[in-house]
This record gives sequence, structure tokens and C-alpha cells, in this order.
Amino acid sequence: MNLNEYIELVNKKLDEFMPEDIFPQDIFKAMKYTVTLPGKRLRPVMCMESCRIFGGNVEDAVPTACAIEMLHAQTLIHDDLPCMDNDDFRRGKPTNHKVFGEANAVLAGDALLSFAPQIILKNSKNLGSEKLVKIMEEYTQYAGAYGVIAGQVADIEAEKNWKNNIFGLEPEKLLDFIHTHKTADLFKLPLRTGAIIAGAGEQDLEKITELAQKLGVAFQISDDILDVISTFEEMGKTIGKDQNADKLTYVTLYGLEESKCKLACILDKCCDMINSFNIKSEVLLEIISGIKKRVGINDNHCK
Ligand code: IPE
Ligand code: IPE
Ligand code: MG
Ligand code: MG
Ligand code: MG
Repeated sequence: MNLNEYIELVNKKLDEFMPEDIFPQDIFKAMKYTVTLPGKRLRPVMCMESCRIFGGNVEDAVPTACAIEMLHAQTLIHDDLPCMDNDDFRRGKPTNHKVFGEANAVLAGDALLSFAPQIILKNSKNLGSEKLVKIMEEYTQYAGAYGVIAGQVADIEAEKNWKNNIFGLEPEKLLDFIHTHKTADLFKLPLRTGAIIAGAGEQDLEKITELAQKLGVAFQISDDILDVISTFEEMGKTIGKDQNADKLTYVTLYGLEESKCKLACILDKCCDMINSFNIKSEVLLEIISGIKKRVGINDNHCK
């Protein structure tokens, strides 16, 4: 499958998996709203592609892929709340709390956090209990306080306060921690679970985790850069908010040009890894070139 075919499949299945007309409708509508708005669907695509790379049947990864997109939507709903980043737009539309109110947005996020693994358990019985337990271990690791929540807590703590060595970390190390957990962890989850579904061994899991870490950090750097140079139309969210909130981002710490340069180098490393791990994946390469294109990095940026 190519990138667009994967995206179409995910969109179709997300629509099927998300109920709407169930009592109490308010919560199911709020959950479905953010999940089905048009996102890039990078995480579910990576899950299915990882399954394919390691010789699995892509169909087997569909429920897990969709569940990870639901988890991602949960992080977005909560990230946008007034007590977090206070954003009014997401995926080109008003944010969840703007449409459904703050209480329902909090609850929709909470609901998605448990709805997502339920989708996996209900729809992946064919994988057998050993793989299902492994997938649940991955989900709980990366979705919780060891994972994306750790990154979000540090991100919020660092706001306006990042020069003060919070958590005893220099700003560079703190930024690494934030990017690793708030973003790369949700790249590790799909790439690892896709591999697990395919039956990949420990060595392959280590390799794909290394790639996910680099690619996830690169993706967050690109998001930090695009917050400065992109437009609302392109991003579907308000631009320039990081600087206004004095967020700790790559651009804050290294400036725009150096951030672009660092990003170009990390993306080159991702390509090197894909080659040296002997991963044959046009889709992963397309995701990488998509990031480069959006940020305006040409092939010789760092050379
Ligand atoms: C937004 O992720 C949150 C970040 C990690 C920067 P995406 O840029 O993948 O958002 P969607 O899914 O395309 O809306
Ligand atoms: C958010 O990072 C990452 C998560 C939602 C976990 P950002 O706060 O930079 O994402 P955007 O810019 O709002 O999409
Ligand atoms: Mg945030
Ligand atoms: Mg945000
Ligand atoms: Mg951002």
C-alpha cells in the first residue's frame, strides 16, 4: 500500500470504529469529532507499515493502528485545553473544548484513553493472547506517565521557566526529554506494535525503536519550526503560539536556521538508519521527505 491508500484505509476504519449515536451522545460525539477530523495519520500509517516491513499481514495491524490514532487525538484534545496550550483551532476546526465545552473535552480525552485499547482487544482476538499482552504493555508504557504524559508535564513546567534548570536539567537536556516523551514515544508505539504484530524479534524491535526515537524528535523539531514559519491554512492550528507562551522549543534554544540544520542532519541519520537496518520502505522515506518539504529543507541543507 502507498501512503494515500493507508490513509484512506485508516479514515474508513476510524469512522467505523467510532460510534456516534450511543447514549450519552455528547461524549461519543466529542470523541468522534477530533478523531475523524483530517489529520496526517502518520502514527497509524507507521504502525501498518512497520507490520508490513517485518513480514506481517497489514490487516492484522488495522485495529491497533486506529487505536493509536485515537490515543493521539486524546493527547491533542488535552494539549489544546485552556489549562494546557489554550488553543482554539485544531486540524482546521475549532478545538474540542470550543465545540463541546471544557468538561466534555476532558472527558472525551479520558474516554479515548480507554476506548483505544478496548478497540484493540475487541478487534484483534486473532493475534492471540501473547501478542495482545505485549501490545497492551506497549500502549500502557507510552500512553501513560512513563511516556507522553511525562513529556507533556515537562513541556508545561518548562513554559516561561525553562532557564531555571527545572528537574535539575540544563535546557538542552530538558528539551530532549520533552521531545522524546511528548512526541517520539508516540512514534515508538506504532512502529513497535506494528513489528510485534508481525512477530518481529527483540533485535528488530531495538532497531525500529532507535529509528522511532530519531524520527519522532525530528518531527517535533519540524513542528517547532513550522510554528514560526508556516501558516494557519497549512497547519490547521494557530501559528506563533510557542513564542508567545515562552515555550521551550528547538527554535527558542537554537534559533530558526540552526534548528533547520539540526533537523536536516537528524533526518539524514534516519535515512542512514533505514539503509543500514536494511528496511525497505517507500512509505517511511515519503514521510521523511514530507517533513523536509514542509519545512523547506533541500537535500543539501547541511552539507
Ligand atoms: C501534532 O501532531 C502534535 C505533535 C506531536 C506536534 P501531528 O502534526 O501529527 O497532528 P495531526 O495528526 O496531523 O493533526
Ligand atoms: C504536543 O506538542 C504533543 C502532544 C500533543 C503530545 P505541541 O503542543 O507542540 O503540539 P501542537 O503544536 O499543539 O500540535
Ligand atoms: Mg503542547
Ligand atoms: Mg499544543
Ligand atoms: Mg507545536
